[in-house]
Amino acid sequence: MIQAMKIRKITGHIGAEITGVDLAGDLDAATIKAIGDALDEHVAIYFRDQHLTPADIERYVGWFGERLIHPYMQAVKGATYVHQIRKLPDETLNFGGTWHADFTNLTTPGATNSLYSLEVPDFGGETVICNSTAAYEALSLGMKRMLENMNAWHGYSPEYKALYAIRKTELKDQLQSAEDLDVDGEDVLHPVIRSHPNTGRKSLFINPLFTLRFEDMSRAESLPLLNQLYDHITRPEFCVRFGWEKNMLASWDNRQSMHYAVNDYPGQRRVMNRCLTIDTARPVGTAIGEIGSIPAVGLRGLEPGDIVDIHPRMGSKLS
Ligand code: SIN
Repeated sequence: MIQAMKIRKITGHIGAEITGVDLAGDLDAATIKAIGDALDEHVAIYFRDQHLTPADIERYVGWFGERLIHPYMQAVKGATYVHQIRKLPDETLNFGGTWHADFTNLTTPGATNSLYSLEVPDFGGETVICNSTAAYEALSLGMKRMLENMNAWHGYSPEYKALYAIRKTELKDQLQSAEDLDVDGEDVLHPVIRSHPNTGRKSLFINPLFTLRFEDMSRAESLPLLNQLYDHITRPEFCVRFGWEKNMLASWDNRQSMHYAVNDYPGQRRVMNRCLTIDTARPVGTAIGEIGSIPAVGLRGLEPGDIVDIHPRMGSKLS
């Protein structure tokens, strides 16, 4: 039975606050399903005043799918899937401070992203998330028709490589080892419009950090339309801005969003525990033809229940 759980939409297109539930406690199947459905529907959800150990976070994230062992961030003590994102007062760069969706450079990209706040700055440090399903739905019919026939290559963009050359130094004590921040790897082709595996709803599946170019087009030819679409997806009406307070847990659906960690709290600490899930099959497009010709194989031929380890030393790519 769903007891006092309430879901309150916080903007017209994205984001809901869920109250009346203690995620550290035992929850019944109906409540767990309602939380998963809320994530599918609202794209980003949050819970205030939760007191969660890494094991609690791992259990919660497991409700959404296959949890990811992060390829280069160290897991926190006693955890397998939870790693920490820390920005210290003397650091300048933050983690995720540019529009992106997680791991779209993989054949099976990131599926959900959950963050739990341990230490928050007095001001700033918010996370902005935009709904790329709502953005798709707002496009003209002509634009939808054109994009539904297109694929795009994803991999490490020049911007990603420049960023990570700097971050390799700042992140060094959070990495598994210095070589782990390797940005080589084969590019992968994904449909520009993907269908959501749970709802079938279509969304724009591109992001500035990993989308390199459209199939059969150069990067220079692709960028004007990509940039126009990024401007569209990130319009304020498709975005929500999560202001963090201590002990808040937020989750968003990487398959139908992009996110941006705002770096506006110099001289302050921000510490979050993070845990991700990853798709277990390639993103499915909506058009017949070229999209249907992409082989439908996962990263390692995953079966439900498999633990996904995409460590670069195993020959896979990372984000
Ligand atoms: C990220 O997952 O990219 C970081 C989000 C955040 O720290 O707000």
